[in-house]
Amino acid sequence: MRENRGQYTTITVCSVCRCKTLHKFLSLGPTPLANSFLREDQLSAPEPYYPLDVCFCSACGLVQLVHVVAPEILFKDYAYLTSTSKPMEAHFARLAEEVIWRFSVPPGSLVVDIGSNDGTLLRNFQKYNMNILGIEPADNVAELAMSRGIETVNDFFDERLARIVFAERGQAKVILATNVFAHVADLEGFVRGVTHLLADDGIFIIEVPYLVDMLQKLEFDTIYHEHLRYFAVRPLVTLFNRFGMGIVEVQHIGVHGGSLRVYVHKSPCSLSSSEAKLLELEEEAKLGSLETYQKFAEEVWWVKEALLSFLKSLKAQGARIAGYGATAKGNTLLNYCKVGTNILDYISDTTPFKQGRYTPGMHIPVLPESHFHESPPDYALLLAWNYAGKILQNEEGYRQSGGRFIVPLPKPKLV
Ligand code: TMP
Ligand code: ZN
Repeated sequence: MRENRGQYTTITVCSVCRCKTLHKFLSLGPTPLANSFLREDQLSAPEPYYPLDVCFCSACGLVQLVHVVAPEILFKDYAYLTSTSKPMEAHFARLAEEVIWRFSVPPGSLVVDIGSNDGTLLRNFQKYNMNILGIEPADNVAELAMSRGIETVNDFFDERLARIVFAERGQAKVILATNVFAHVADLEGFVRGVTHLLADDGIFIIEVPYLVDMLQKLEFDTIYHEHLRYFAVRPLVTLFNRFGMGIVEVQHIGVHGGSLRVYVHKSPCSLSSSEAKLLELEEEAKLGSLETYQKFAEEVWWVKEALLSFLKSLKAQGARIAGYGATAKGNTLLNYCKVGTNILDYISDTTPFKQGRYTPGMHIPVLPESHFHESPPDYALLLAWNYAGKILQNEEGYRQSGGRFIVPLPKPKLV
């Protein structure tokens, strides 16, 4: 495998509180980008690798990446499509209903989805006759959304774009940022843009993976270059306070291994009971202490050893093993644990774009799920563990005929 050093910048101040109190606690080593699936003709070319290091800000408690890859490199051409994960489709349909009924959003209101991907979330608002607008920087994905009838601005969201949208469409009643808030390089510009575009009585909704879940369930594969920050409630309070905004409510939800859904107003709010409860949970989990993160880093090292020896022992018995779900997080896991084609024959995935390609770094072929069913392996390493419930249910036939799933985290387990 040939590598070259990719371009990146290194942060010196915290992206929430601007303090210099950053403490590096984990290094997953030089890693290729998690969604850079390769075509066969790209396999022999040098592959860009970037350091994947994580630090903790002792002033506000934010956990963030030390090295930042330019958004144009990460997001201009994007492999992930929301609509290829059925559980996320259902999740977003419920989210839209909740927002519309809870906040009595009248038909015709401007609903803006930032990082709108292929329009899966907005389609639900369209059904209720909302005036929808997607903002999506990936050219290929924005084009797909447009072809599906979702009006989409093909750009990164920032203050400049917020002003343009405001001038053309007026204030937004709802702004959504699901699985994108942890991704934006210029967090301040993003939040300023939201305050500019959002109506005074409007609601801003974010969903981000929750740091408490990542630490407690050892979900270290949530860490990849696209995810610049690993949020908890406390740093979010600091962030929104800085912009005069207030958290109305925080929900701890199950998606992506445990996430936060945060409802934010443009003006300050009193502390809600849901917020107080989660702040207490964070206190109990010792999120303010550097030792918590150092302990996590040690556990991550142990789980790598455990997983690798487990897979090697199965291999030594002659087992055939395939991966299930060519997820971005799977690429962190495979690259960090050095699980390659010596262990996995292939990875099964439902996304047409990924099929026929190879995973970044470890170069494992990605094949359609039909291949998995035609030639089932003895063991399937569940790289899409965030959909475990649904996948185990769908693959009941595989399990009935003797196939076993390996759930890799928090420690390797056969199901
Ligand atoms: P995500 O974890 O980022 O949502 O990515 C999920 C990936 O897993 C995506 O490439 C689609 C794939 N997948 C399957 O192959 N089979 C499945 O049953 C599910 C739910 C996802
Ligand atoms: Zn900070």
